[in-house]
Amino acid sequence: MDFHTVWHPCTQMKDHESVPPLLIERADGVYLYDRDGNKYLDVISSWWVNLFGHNHPRLNSALKAQLDKVAHVMFAGITHKPAIDLAARLIELSPDNLRKVFFSDNGSTAVEVAVKMSLQYWRQTGHASKRKFAYLKGGYHGETLGALSLCGIDMFRENFNEVLMSNIEVEGPDCYRCPYGLKPETCGAECFESMQKTLADHQDTLAGVIIEPLVQGAAGMKMYPPVYLEKLQSACKVHNVHTIYDEIAVGFGRTGSLFVSAEHELSPTFLCLSKGITSGYLPLAATLTEDEIYSAFYDDFATMKLFVHSHSYSANPLACAVANESLAMLTENDFLEKLQPKIQALKEFGKRLQELNWVGEFRQTGMIAAAELVKDKETKEAFPFEDRVGYRIYQEGLKRGVLMRPLGNVVYFIPPLVISIEEIKTMIDTATDCIRAVLD
Ligand SMILES: Cc1ncc(COP(=O)(O)O)c(C=O)c1O
Repeated sequence: MDFHTVWHPCTQMKDHESVPPLLIERADGVYLYDRDGNKYLDVISSWWVNLFGHNHPRLNSALKAQLDKVAHVMFAGITHKPAIDLAARLIELSPDNLRKVFFSDNGSTAVEVAVKMSLQYWRQTGHASKRKFAYLKGGYHGETLGALSLCGIDMFRENFNEVLMSNIEVEGPDCYRCPYGLKPETCGAECFESMQKTLADHQDTLAGVIIEPLVQGAAGMKMYPPVYLEKLQSACKVHNVHTIYDEIAVGFGRTGSLFVSAEHELSPTFLCLSKGITSGYLPLAATLTEDEIYSAFYDDFATMKLFVHSHSYSANPLACAVANESLAMLTENDFLEKLQPKIQALKEFGKRLQELNWVGEFRQTGMIAAAELVKDKETKEAFPFEDRVGYRIYQEGLKRGVLMRPLGNVVYFIPPLVISIEEIKTMIDTATDCIRAVLD
């Protein structure tokens, strides 16, 4: 088996002594097929990347057509049509203030680029003291050391704390366990007060605030209302601090709109995109920013104001070609409007999950949903992590042909957008059966 040689991400490899990794041989639509011919409904879109299902004929053709032209070429001193087209489309579809696109090759690097641009911008505009970032508790922005320095989840950072950049963690929204006792529908983001205070106290040293808009993915699909983002935008303007929107997980239709920022008419200084950008075909990322930022780097070479940052596979032409096709599919024939019945179906079926004794909250934003499992619905007491409730549910799911990968005690769903209503029902029914099998 592969564990003699391969070390898998975010995996206790010892677990594979009893449960070997699935050996996937092919994939089609929303299903993965292992070498024994078993099929699995991929309800987490292969780590949240897949939008149109696996092995999609249009995406395959776009990829093959580009392969016959050029597979890869460096992106300094050279450009190519797939990247030019993609940059133009992203600028057209994202908030109006975003006018420049910097390509890289994964979500963490998209974040690192935004952070480095922000720091260098402040240095080059006479604000060299602005060196820190504020991030939310529960926030997740990738796992390279720079991105980890913005991570508000202990599990990811505790082994590295002493080598990370010193940033500022801020208490963020926690709607399920709201300390103000409010409901998301009626709240005015009272919890923004911690961020307000941080901005006021640290404005001279703060370069930016980074945030996952509306859904904190790795924290367990924790969701909060847009009013928080509105407050953040106004406060960051007042205190002269950049806003970095990490739409790596929520972008490209997951919430029911193309981008959260554009849908809510927000104007982040930086917008980080990856994951769904190629609908799960190839690694690619983009960091979008404003002319104001770009101009601070634009000068004679001797001033050394250029942005010194590069990756070998930045703007890979194959990835850009697939991204262009995927974006065309997302934006034509009212694709996103036609998601509405699926979003409604997810809401309806989710009520079944909410009724279970162990589901403290079923929450949903567009095509993202999650059931938070608790020991006690009244007190909202969590299961201890050693119980590995999520892992046991994952194993039950595999037996029933559904690939889930719960985050701790949160069973979540981010299916490919092309999943059918019937398959949404199967996904929720199976999750219900698995939760019962493990916990009843
Ligand atoms: C919100 C968010 N930002 C950044 C990342 C990091 O992306 P990558 O895994 O491509 O480095 C992720 C990955 O899950 C994410 O969910």
